[in-house]
Amino acid sequence: MGISRRAAALVVALGIFASGTTQASAQSSQVPQDAAKNFYRTLPKEVKSNPVVKRVAKDLGLVDKPKTRAGRTATAADCTNCVALTFDDGPAGHTTRLLDLLYAKNAEASFFVVGPNARSNAGMLKRMADSGMTVGNHSMTHRQLNQLSYQQVAQEIQQGNDIIQRNTGSAPRWMRPPYGATNPTVARAAGDKGMALAMWQIDTLDWKYRDPARTCRVAVNESQAGDIVLMHDIHATTVDAVSCIIDGLRAKGLEPVSLDRLIPKPVPGKTYSRK
Ligand code: NI
Repeated sequence: MGISRRAAALVVALGIFASGTTQASAQSSQVPQDAAKNFYRTLPKEVKSNPVVKRVAKDLGLVDKPKTRAGRTATAADCTNCVALTFDDGPAGHTTRLLDLLYAKNAEASFFVVGPNARSNAGMLKRMADSGMTVGNHSMTHRQLNQLSYQQVAQEIQQGNDIIQRNTGSAPRWMRPPYGATNPTVARAAGDKGMALAMWQIDTLDWKYRDPARTCRVAVNESQAGDIVLMHDIHATTVDAVSCIIDGLRAKGLEPVSLDRLIPKPVPGKTYSRK
């Protein structure tokens, strides 16, 4: 890996800045750090993308954190203020509106799709994946998986996974058993496919009340950092609540993120209802 003379000279310059910086920072002055940052900002793109320069700048803390888009509160790297909004049983007629809304609010969510809906709305699956949503498996037939044999459960999961993989380019890592009906066989079948089970901490009962104000109130009031919230994107009244939910969570200092962001490395076969 070569490094141009120009880049090397800049690395040295950054190093000089830095040696002054660390000592000065220890004496509670931020000025040299700011000067070094400003200097780094002025470097041409091709220099900044040099691996050596990149590493040095990162070590010295000169790289700005990625800018967050409008509306989004800063999310800690370890997601300490995150909540996962999850939507089951689609994708269906209202899902496009929901995706538009999430995009406009720069928020993430997760979708547990049922096989036939996923198949007939394949374009939405791709859009979900492309926009950073987690696409999870909610089975093929929406039966109570805890009533089925291992082979039957494995088939329910595999058929759903195939549709998801075909349309998003990757196999899902999350399975949500319909009705939350699970048992050790279901957990083992999911685990054998490298998947974890996603249950929930907050049940909005959105399907029952079909009342956007109520759904919003429950989701916002009951959510705490790390929680998984259950909803259903097949109901217009649920999608109607989402804007209010995102605003309400952010007002509490919480940030709606995908399940993959909330729990980046789920243990296969394990059941999660929160982080
Ligand atoms: Ni369901």
